[in-house]
Amino acid sequence: MTLAFAAPDSAAIPLHLLDEGEVPDWIEAQSAPIRAWAKAQGFSGAIGQVLTCPGDEGIALAAVGYGSARSRARGRFHLAAGAARLPTGIYALTCTLENDLVEVEALGWLLAQYRFDTYKDQSAMGAALIAPEGIDAARIEKIANGEALSRTLINTPASDMGPPDLEAAARDVAAEFGASIKVTTGEDLLAQNYPLIHTVGRAADSEARLIDITWGEDGPRLTLVGKGVCFDTGGLNLKPGASMALMKKDMGGAAAVLGLAHMIMATGMPVQLRVLIPAVENSVSGNAFRPGDILTARKGLTVEINNTDAEGRLVLADALALADEDQPDLIISMATLPGAARVAVGPDLAPFYVDDGDLASAVEQAAAVQADPVWRMPFHSPYEAMIEPGIADLDNAPKGGFAGSITAALFLRRFVTETPNYMHFDIYGWQPSDAPARPKGGVAQGTRALLAALPEMLGL
Ligand code: BES
Ligand code: ZN
Ligand code: ZN
Repeated sequence: MTLAFAAPDSAAIPLHLLDEGEVPDWIEAQSAPIRAWAKAQGFSGAIGQVLTCPGDEGIALAAVGYGSARSRARGRFHLAAGAARLPTGIYALTCTLENDLVEVEALGWLLAQYRFDTYKDQSAMGAALIAPEGIDAARIEKIANGEALSRTLINTPASDMGPPDLEAAARDVAAEFGASIKVTTGEDLLAQNYPLIHTVGRAADSEARLIDITWGEDGPRLTLVGKGVCFDTGGLNLKPGASMALMKKDMGGAAAVLGLAHMIMATGMPVQLRVLIPAVENSVSGNAFRPGDILTARKGLTVEINNTDAEGRLVLADALALADEDQPDLIISMATLPGAARVAVGPDLAPFYVDDGDLASAVEQAAAVQADPVWRMPFHSPYEAMIEPGIADLDNAPKGGFAGSITAALFLRRFVTETPNYMHFDIYGWQPSDAPARPKGGVAQGTRALLAALPEMLGL
């Protein structure tokens, strides 16, 4: 599905987005019948409250509550909260907000139109919005469609989103923007020295693979790496049923970087972009890798497997080592890594790690403007000892689980030694219940913040 604004229409219904404080004066300024109607309806401007006023031709005008500063702080995409309840029609937004706030609300409207309808028709939102004036509507549509791509990739179950399907999706994205794509599959992974990707994926029927997209001739070099575990059973350290239920989303990092790459290419950011996705299924079979195995990674480091369920850091290790070999200006990885991150910050905040304080602030500031919340976590070097088991260079699952998100990030950082800057996002990738502009299901995190922050981060 394509998310887009409606074409300009002279018969559009005026739609007022009103702060609670503006409502009394606004009501007084209306004609007598509308004033009486708004009062009779008890319209107060609370977030998501919708008012539609009748006229000779149907709806004469509509209003959506924008709440108060205090109530807005409890959520985001306030126009979207009401948009879903507006009757079918074409609406033209009127409000007193600054342009960057209008952009966020307009984006929220588009994102509220997203439906995962591959397997069942879903009721479409009947209300359509004409692109508000003064904002870059084409850019917002590109952002919304990158996000929709991430959502659909995550929502599609492993039966239709195994490693070959993820490869097909990556090929579609590459083809859309004339990017190059190379995929290394199955036994070739061993021949070309991606031992960890091969080992994690070897018990599955679908062969493991490493997807490598490149795009752009000039500009700073940016490499995105996304965890593409198309289903995570936990391997021989099998997950209990309840923990396995949602593991189709364990390619959420891959979905996020593909969505971000889509935004970068669609908006024509002047960078040399590379996207690396190790795509595997962490499955169970007689040839599955075992707890206690010691593997040698592409980088030469040995890794003791203490839990086959800590597989994401293994496949990312080989992909990060490859990313590091050509020393781009910046490497960013994204992954649904340890449950520890979810315990620490919940599903709504995307924890991220980076050593450089300026890069961290660029992301934090962009996140606030884009309504894409992130939280900086520390690469706390004193915990390096926790990932050193003694009989190998690294331990993939330190016992005790102290600082589980930090130790996973430290593990990944060991594979980036030649590149000046490395940033890692530990995302949840799933919206647990319906929220404005975020229907229950797959969701990208950090991508909109990164799109906005990248020009500053890369010195563009
Ligand atoms: N894919 C999971 C992490 C996960 C779990 C993400 C739930 C989102 C929701 C990852 O591969 C995993 O299983 N991690 C283990 C790590 C542990 C064995 C060190 C975990 O979190 O239990
Ligand atoms: Zn796992
Ligand atoms: Zn996993």
